[in-house]
Amino acid sequence: MCGIVGYVGERAVTPLLLEALEKLEYRGYDSAGIALVSDGGIEIQKTRGRIADLRRIVESAGDSGCTVGIGHTRWATHGEPSDVNSHPHLSKSGRVAVVHNGIIENYIELRAFLSAHGYEFSTETDSEVVSELIDYCYSGDPVAAVRKAELQLRGSYALGIIFADFPEQIIALRKDSPLIIGIGENENFIASDIPAILKYTRDVFRLDERELAVLSKKRVAVFNELGERVEHVIEHIEWDAGAAEKGGYPHFMIKEIMEQPEAISKTVAPRIDANGDILLGFKSLSDEDLKNIDSIKLTACGSAYHVGVVAKHLLKKWLDIPVEAELASEFRYDDPILNERTLVIVISQSGETLDTLYALREAKNKGARTVSIVNVVASSIANESEEVLYTWAGPEISVATTKAYSTQLVLVELLGIRMAQLRGKLSDCEVKELVSAIKCIPSGIETILSDVQTMQYVASLYFNSQSVFFLGRNIDFALSLEASLKLKEISYIHSEAYAAGELKHGTISLIEDGTLVIALCTYRPLLDKMISNIKEVKARGAKVIAIINEDDIQTGTVADHIIRIPECGEISAPSLTIVPLQLFAYYIASLKGCDIDKPRNLAKSVTVE
Ligand code: G6P
Repeated sequence: MCGIVGYVGERAVTPLLLEALEKLEYRGYDSAGIALVSDGGIEIQKTRGRIADLRRIVESAGDSGCTVGIGHTRWATHGEPSDVNSHPHLSKSGRVAVVHNGIIENYIELRAFLSAHGYEFSTETDSEVVSELIDYCYSGDPVAAVRKAELQLRGSYALGIIFADFPEQIIALRKDSPLIIGIGENENFIASDIPAILKYTRDVFRLDERELAVLSKKRVAVFNELGERVEHVIEHIEWDAGAAEKGGYPHFMIKEIMEQPEAISKTVAPRIDANGDILLGFKSLSDEDLKNIDSIKLTACGSAYHVGVVAKHLLKKWLDIPVEAELASEFRYDDPILNERTLVIVISQSGETLDTLYALREAKNKGARTVSIVNVVASSIANESEEVLYTWAGPEISVATTKAYSTQLVLVELLGIRMAQLRGKLSDCEVKELVSAIKCIPSGIETILSDVQTMQYVASLYFNSQSVFFLGRNIDFALSLEASLKLKEISYIHSEAYAAGELKHGTISLIEDGTLVIALCTYRPLLDKMISNIKEVKARGAKVIAIINEDDIQTGTVADHIIRIPECGEISAPSLTIVPLQLFAYYIASLKGCDIDKPRNLAKSVTVE
């Protein structure tokens, strides 16, 4: 989704902005641009395509000598990816330039209002109204103009704004879309995410909702929506810029797949004490509160939702209360029945997914108790939920999530187990067994990762497939959803996940000679039924790859290929089973020459509804 950067200082701003934008490429984009400001006014360079295309344009224009500017990567929502629709948008007067992440929901209304006042529009974007509206509100005081304009804006926005009359400052403002401020010596920064500016500063803070910051070379002044000055505690980023580099791997995705054992250990280890007890570190939700919970809703988007679907099965079994998983984009529009005895578990890598953030707010408005499972520290979802459990997976750059998914899963398991223990549904002894099985997951994944050649080989047989079907039952079906999403999002091969028993109610008509079916067969209670389902598709010409438990001696006799999952306790199976399927998706996409880390049309951080 759109990325914003901005710099005010003493360095040459053009190369800095381009480099910073490159660090945001992972978010997904289809055009890019920069706006530079100096005594000579505002100069814009922008283009459809990649940053490399922008770099060519910028370099052919020669050195600008400017030291203040803003930049943007655009992920098209309103209007096709094109040069003209790219950001920054410069008001027709030439006085104000704006980069925007989010959606201005009432832009049609505002466009009509401004048109009636003689303003003209040249793009199809919602964002263009922001530069023109600020221009309309401007009479010499930039902050007053931005605040006056903001009163008319509906929707979500992170904004970077420069004024031709004030060539030594940037104004930043945000609501429902993320924006961080970086503090340097004689220089300051804005960015959508930390990696963009980590090369220059490790001292950052996040703007809170509706805060406005005025950045000049020497200072950053932040004001809340009432216009009062606010001070932020500056966070010193400890992780190395190298954590956001490929480190010798061809893609971030494979690097992050390989990091899973370590990431899971980092998530789990600090939460288990010397006696094997689970420590959640909650401050607001007491043990008594957790005992009183009588239903759970898990809500999230994309892969994080799939974690919720897996967790639903486990938590329901352990806690013996109703547990549902719901897509965050549906949750708040479906009149969820919630009260103070409902626990809403919100899952998000970025902590900024707008649908998930809105679902969290809906849950809080209706009085539910809330826990979020988040990777990005101090992100909006983390800040706004009653309790937060951080996954501590380190930065995840590949759009297709792997290590965030895996760490979310173990963390929600720890939460469920602890709740079941408190409610007397799991004995101390059962808890210890489950916890030691979770502790074994990293070594199980290492075993799988020590033999990537098998998945490479299988991928080489099937990378020309037109369509792939994933089948599973119960937890294996939940895992199929994620396996199918991984494959389709990065390889562009059509794929579907089906509850194996549902296949014969329609989808089986799509199975023909050579269709690839991947059957997940790790859920022991329903193995016989899965074997029957494999036979059904085999009888219609399908080729079957079965993912099976190490000790399974039956399934291999019916499938074309088998992938064995090392044995380390029932609870580990979901965490292990997904790994060969991540590798399968990765190698297929690699053989097809796809842009693995930045799949077309996708964004890492989805900050629009
Ligand atoms: C995007 C990403 C997915 C991710 C989903 C939710 O679609 O491509 O990988 O699962 O957003 O993101 P979140 O940051 O909330 O986990």
